[in-house]
Amino acid sequence: MPLDIENTRRLCPEHDLHYFASIDSTMNEAAKLVARKAPHGTLVVADEQTAGMGRLGRSWQSSRDLGIYCSVLLRLPLPAESLPLITLVLGLATAEAIEKSTTAVCDLRWPNDILINERKVAGILAHLVEDYVIAGIGINVNQTSFPAGLRTPPTSLRIESGGATQSRESILLNLIHSLDAFCAMLITEGPEWILRAFISASSYAIDRRVLIEEDGRKGVTAGIDENGFLLVRLDSGSIEKIAAGGVRPAS
Ligand code: BTN
Repeated sequence: MPLDIENTRRLCPEHDLHYFASIDSTMNEAAKLVARKAPHGTLVVADEQTAGMGRLGRSWQSSRDLGIYCSVLLRLPLPAESLPLITLVLGLATAEAIEKSTTAVCDLRWPNDILINERKVAGILAHLVEDYVIAGIGINVNQTSFPAGLRTPPTSLRIESGGATQSRESILLNLIHSLDAFCAMLITEGPEWILRAFISASSYAIDRRVLIEEDGRKGVTAGIDENGFLLVRLDSGSIEKIAAGGVRPAS
């Protein structure tokens, strides 16, 4: 069933919400809205994406009426260098929205994969465009299967609940509220608060053996620095700052 978008509009009157039954990617539509100087908090939501984009040039499975596919325009009073921190904020907000709407317990894998039982349930793409961040959020909600060969094993909230259909409206509403709340916390409390929140929400932030996707080196995570970059103590003993790409669990 399509999203009951009118109800979402009624409950989030302060957000300008652009809805599409089907679109190539909500990121493309969001970029058009940036060109028109749309206000902070403008949302693009679709029931299907025909060319959903993932991080690092990958694609994002966006089957009709099964997931949440949205992009949010953020125009925060922060310098461009804050993008990694905003990325952490997006992961925290998405995990909170999922946990408020379901019984699932989420883990965060730097920079912003949302995992349940080591399987990926949601992903985030953050693009800096002019003085906006376009935040693309995809949540697997009611999928019952996925194509083979995905890099991180995927899951959906329905699968994790034992097969019960989940309300996409409720997750979307909680997502909008959590995004507002975490963005406000970043502005009022500053980066330290966000870093502490991320470290306590992520089993990957400290003492986790990982492989750095970019170059295959291995080490143990050693926290997040003040700019939002992951620190990894390599097997050689040196500390490496990871600014791009991601990490995977390693033996
Ligand atoms: C990732 O690779 O983990 C990021 C996935 C981001 C997917 C979302 S779905 C809504 C928005 N539109 C897109 O085309 N991608 C993002």
